[in-house]
Amino acid sequence: MSSDAARDLAAWIPRLVKVWRAQRKAPPPRDGRHQHHGHQHKARRPDPRDAAPSDTLTPHELREVGAGVKQLSHGLTRERELAGAHYMDNPRLLGAYLLFYWPVSYMQSRGALSELGRPRSVLDLGSGPGPLAFAAMDAGATSVIAADRSKPALELAKQLAIEAQESLGTREWSPEKPIPEGKFDLVTMGHVVNELYHGDLALRAQLLEKILARIDKNGTLLVMEPALRDTTRALLKVRDVLVGQGYAVRAPCLFRGNCPALVKETDWCHADRPWKMPPLVEAIASEAGLHKESLKMAYAAFAPKGDAWSTLPEGRHFRIVSEALEGKGRQRFMGCGPEGRVGLAMQTKHETEKNRLFFKAMRGDVIKVDLTEPRGDGLALTDASTVEIVANAGRPFPKLP
Ligand SMILES: C[S@@+](CC[C@H](N)C(=O)[O-])C[C@H]1O[C@@H](n2cnc3c(N)ncnc32)[C@H](O)[C@@H]1O
Repeated sequence: MSSDAARDLAAWIPRLVKVWRAQRKAPPPRDGRHQHHGHQHKARRPDPRDAAPSDTLTPHELREVGAGVKQLSHGLTRERELAGAHYMDNPRLLGAYLLFYWPVSYMQSRGALSELGRPRSVLDLGSGPGPLAFAAMDAGATSVIAADRSKPALELAKQLAIEAQESLGTREWSPEKPIPEGKFDLVTMGHVVNELYHGDLALRAQLLEKILARIDKNGTLLVMEPALRDTTRALLKVRDVLVGQGYAVRAPCLFRGNCPALVKETDWCHADRPWKMPPLVEAIASEAGLHKESLKMAYAAFAPKGDAWSTLPEGRHFRIVSEALEGKGRQRFMGCGPEGRVGLAMQTKHETEKNRLFFKAMRGDVIKVDLTEPRGDGLALTDASTVEIVANAGRPFPKLP
C-alpha cells in the first residue's frame, strides 16, 4: 500500500475523531434528522472530554465504538441482517462506521484508484460519510459529489470536508431516484451494490449501465465490495452481464470472457493488500475482537460503452489471484490472464536468477512468464522459465499513457 495513501489517512484520523466527538455530543434530532451543528462549539460549556487525545479514543469512548463496530461487523458481514437496512441513520452505528470502516474503505479505494488514471470529476454513490469521495480527492480529483440516502451520513461527510478545508458536494440519492446531474470521469460505489435490490443481479447490472452512460470517454465506474464469497461472486456475475453487453473492464481483469472464478461454486476472486493499521483502527479492531491486518476487497473498474479493453504488451501475462499456496518443495499460485484462470507452479529446486521473482510475487501482481510447460490443467515453471513482475498489486497494468 502506498506510503502517500497511508500518510494521507493519518491526516484524516484526527478529523474523524473530532467529527465523531461532535456528533456524539449533538442533541438528539427532533425530526428524526441530524441537525447542522455548524456553530455548536461557540455555544457549549467546556467539556472534560476536550482533553481527550485528538487521534485516539479514551477507554470509555473505545468501549462505545467497539460495541458499535461489533454490531456492524455482525450485521454486514456475518449474518448480513443490516445489509440494506438504514444503519447509517443510527448515530451510534454511524459513529462506529466513521471511526473504523471509514479508514478501511478509504485505504481500499486508494489501492484501487492507484490502478486507474488521475480522477477529476467524481461522483461517489452510496457514499456514507464519504471515504471514497475523500480518497478520490486525495488522489487528485478536482470536483467531488457524495451521494447517499442517509442524511446523517452526508452531514458527517460535510463536516469532514469543513475540517479538511475541502469543497464537497452532497446529494440525497437512492437507486430509484435520478443519478445526480452531470457527466463524470469517475463514479465510485463502495460496499453499496451488494445492499441493493435484495440480491437481484439483473437490476444491479441495469443500474450500473445507467451510471456508465454518465461516464465520460476514458472514465471509470469503480465498484468495490466486501470480499466475502457471496458478495464477491455476485459482483463477478454482474461483471459478466456487463462484459456480455460489450463493456470493458479496466481492472483487475485481464480475461475478456466470462469470469473463470465463477465456474466452481467454491471459487471467488478478490484483492488482499497488506497495510499498517493506524493505531486508532488497531485499537478499535482489538476492542471489537476483529482482525483487519490486511485489506481484503472485491473490485471491478468498468469502462463506459465504446471504450475498448486495454491492449496488452507482448508476452504471456497473468495476474496473481490467490495467495501463495506453498506445498512441499514448491510454490503455487492461481493466475488469471488473457488465456483464463490457470494454476502456476514451480519447484524450489528450479529457482534460477531468471525465474526467482516467482517466489516474491504477491496476490494482485501481474507477472510475465515464458518457457513454461503444461502440467495437468495448469503450467509448470522449470529452470528454463523466465518470470518478470510487470506490475505490482495496486499499480496500473498495462502502464497508463
Ligand atoms: C457499507 S456502507 C458504504 C459506505 C462507503 N461507500 C464505504 O465504502 O465505506 C453502504 C452505504 O450504502 C447506502 N445505501 C444502502 N442502500 C441504499 C439505497 N437503497 N440507496 C442509497 N444508498 C444506500 C447506505 O446508506 C450506506 O451509506
